[in-house]
Amino acid sequence: MEQILIGKGEAQVNLLARYGNRHGLVAGATGTGKTVSLMVLAEGFSRMGVPVFMADVKGDVSGLAMPGAPSEKVHQRVAEIGMTDYVAEANPVIFWDLFGKSGHPVRTTVSEVGPTLMGRLLELNDTQSGVLEIAFRVADDQGLLLLDLEDLRSLLAFIAESRKEVSARYGLVSAQSVGAIQRAVLGLENAGAAAFFGEPALELGDLMRTDLSGRGIISILAADQLILSPRLYSTLLLWLVSELFENLPEVGDLTRPKLVLFIDEAHLLFDDAPKALRDKVEQAVRLIRSKGVGIYFCSQFPDDVPNEILGQLGNRIQHALRAYTPRDQKAVRTAAETFASNPKLNVADVISRLAVGEALVSTLQEKGVPAPVERTLICPPRCRMGPITPEESAMVRSRSPLSGKYDTPVNRESAHEILTRRAQELAAATPEAVGGKQGAKVAEQERSVIGDLLWGTKRRQGMVETLAKQAARTAGSQLGRQILRGILGGILGGSRR
Ligand SMILES: Nc1ncnc2c1ncn2[C@@H]1O[C@H](COP(=O)(O)OP(=O)(O)O)[C@@H](O)[C@H]1O
Ligand SMILES: [Mg+2]
Repeated sequence: MEQILIGKGEAQVNLLARYGNRHGLVAGATGTGKTVSLMVLAEGFSRMGVPVFMADVKGDVSGLAMPGAPSEKVHQRVAEIGMTDYVAEANPVIFWDLFGKSGHPVRTTVSEVGPTLMGRLLELNDTQSGVLEIAFRVADDQGLLLLDLEDLRSLLAFIAESRKEVSARYGLVSAQSVGAIQRAVLGLENAGAAAFFGEPALELGDLMRTDLSGRGIISILAADQLILSPRLYSTLLLWLVSELFENLPEVGDLTRPKLVLFIDEAHLLFDDAPKALRDKVEQAVRLIRSKGVGIYFCSQFPDDVPNEILGQLGNRIQHALRAYTPRDQKAVRTAAETFASNPKLNVADVISRLAVGEALVSTLQEKGVPAPVERTLICPPRCRMGPITPEESAMVRSRSPLSGKYDTPVNRESAHEILTRRAQELAAATPEAVGGKQGAKVAEQERSVIGDLLWGTKRRQGMVETLAKQAARTAGSQLGRQILRGILGGILGGSRR
C-alpha cells in the first residue's frame, strides 16, 4: 500500500496515500518543526507522483528544490526512525510569484474571482458588496469582460455615470457606495494587487503536472511579500480552492490524491471572515475530497481553523504548544479534544514537552478511522532544510517547463477598452463634430442610438440598426461610418456571451 513515512512512534507512523485527500492539519508553536513536517509530506506526495501546491511564507520551503546535506544529527534521526531508503535528493519544483519576481506570475481575472471574494478583498461592507454584486451583473448583461483592475475601474465609472438607469433596473446604487468601492480599488492597486488580475490567467492544469520521471511537481508560491497583504494572500488561496472545486471532475475514491494543497498561516483565511464565506469554504473543503484534492492547513494553534473544518481534517500532526497564556491553554484543550485518544498518552500533558521535530500524530487508517494519537519522532526531509540562494533559484527557474507561458502579460479587449471607445463615440456625436445644417439632428439621433445601445434590449436592435444606418447615410461622413462600426461592434460584443 502506498504511504508516506511521517516518523516513528511505538512503530513507524504513515500517511496512507488513499486517505491523502482526507485533508490534514500541521500545528504547533514557532520553531517546533511545522515547516519541516510540511516538507516531509510534500516530498512524500511528490515521490508518489502527486503534484503539490504550497505557499512559501518565510522563504524556507524553497529548500525542496535542492538535495539536503545531512548532518550527523540527521543521520542519527534516519537510523532511529529506520528510514531504510533515505537518500538526500531534490524535488521537481516550479516557482510562482504574484509579483513575477522570483517565479512565474500567478494571474486570474476579476470575473473569475467574482463579487464575493472581490468584496472581501476590497474590505467592503454589506451595502457596498451589494453594489459590487450589481456591478458584476451589469458587466455580464452588457457583455463587458472583467479581466484586470482597469476593467473594474472603468465599469465602476460607467456605473457612477449611469447610476439612474442602473438603480432603476437592478436596485439602488448610491454615489457613496460606488465612491467607496472606487477608493478601495485604488487602495488595492497601491498594495500591488494589480499584477494578480489579468491574462494569461493561471491554468489549473499547470499546478497538476508531473515531471518526466513521474514525480509530482511541487509548485511553490513566493509569499514573503504577499503575506504583508493578508487579504490578498487569503483571497488568492480561497480563489484557488474554489477554482479547483468548480473545475475538477468528481473522481470518487482514488488510490492517491490528484493534487495536494498546503495552506500555511491558515488563520489568515478565517480571521474575521463573514459566516457566509466560512460556510462556503467549509463546503468546498468537504466536497473537494471527492475531486481528489487534499488540503493541509498549517497554523500555530489548531483552533485557528474553524471547528466545522477542523472536524474534517483526518491527518493530524501537532507539534509542541506552550501552555502559558489562556489562549495557549484553549489551544491545548482543542488539540487534546480533537485527537483520537490513546489511553497510554495524555495529550494535554505531553504537548508542551515535545522536542523540536517531534509531534503528536494521528492519521487515517483502515476504513478511514483515525489511529490513536502517537508521540512521533518526525522524519528529516530528503531535501534541504532552509532557503535556497538567489543563484539556485535562478537556475531552477531557467529550467521551468512553463518558460514563456505566463511571463508576458496580455491585454485583450475587455470592459475598459469597450467603455472607453463607447465614451469616445458618444463624445464624437456632437453637433459640432458632425457639422453642417443637418448636423444637430443627426448628432441627436446618433446620441440616442448609442445611449439606447448602452441600455437597449435585443428586441430593439432592429430599430437601432436602421436608425444607425440612416444616421450614417445622412451624415455620409467618415465619422458616420466609424460610429456605425462602433455600434455594430457594440451589438456583437453585447450578444457574444
Ligand atoms: N523533522 C525534523 N528533522 C530534523 N530537523 C528538524 C525537523 N523538524 C525541525 N527540525 C529542525 O528545527 C528547525 C525549525 O523547524 P521549522 O520546521 O522551521 O519550525 P516551524 O516551522 O515550526 O517554525 C529546522 O530548521 C530544523 O533544523
Ligand atoms: Mg515555519
